[in-house]
Amino acid sequence: MENLKQLVGIKAAEFVSDGMIVGLGTGSTAAFFVEELGRRVKEENLDIVGVTTSHDTTIQAKALGIPLKSIDEVTHVDVTVDGADEIDDDLNGIKGGGAALLMEKIVASYTKHYIWIVDDSKLSRKLGSFKVPVEVIPYGFKQLFRHFEKQGFKPSYRYDDKGDLLVTDMKHHIIDLHFDIIHEPKKLAKLLDETVGVVEHGLFNNMVDTVIVGSSNGVSIIDKKK
Ligand code: 5RP
Repeated sequence: MENLKQLVGIKAAEFVSDGMIVGLGTGSTAAFFVEELGRRVKEENLDIVGVTTSHDTTIQAKALGIPLKSIDEVTHVDVTVDGADEIDDDLNGIKGGGAALLMEKIVASYTKHYIWIVDDSKLSRKLGSFKVPVEVIPYGFKQLFRHFEKQGFKPSYRYDDKGDLLVTDMKHHIIDLHFDIIHEPKKLAKLLDETVGVVEHGLFNNMVDTVIVGSSNGVSIIDKKK
């Protein structure tokens, strides 16, 4: 699995060229992409500016010597490469397994060419086997949890490695929702968008342009139908 992640990470770096502003995703797969970019910056003098999507990626990119700017300091992002937790046949996705969904979605929103890199275990006909992460304001979040329970969304709190409630980089909590199968991801996204106390959710519907998939047969590239 690590090999496949590395394979797609290196492949995705081919979409980056001199002068680009590059969104740097978060997670174990995106980390291989960032590593490859760092190598190219060092060995090939690749001239880019990175925009990170989490504190962890900022630390990695700085250590590799990738020049960085914040999302507010750039006019746009040329290409963003990120991982994903689950992708359906229509290229809707669930992200946020690494709790970075808010920054990831903001950077993606200003990106011209948005790319996901995954191994083939992340592909499914319909979304739902991965829980939908919802980033919530700490004020009233237990009320919100009960609200989700009443709606039958089977919520669970996200905890960190120490067993404390997870606090995201943007100082919110995460509630994961479990649906088994999501028949209408757009309808669910709208409902969550309209729920008070929800900052953002991990449904990334109709956002990605290209998915790079690694499998035992090699790398394949799926482009969104225009
Ligand atoms: C972080 C994310 C990650 O991109 C997603 O969880 C995939 O991570 P990995 O490549 O480690 O499986 O959305 O918030």
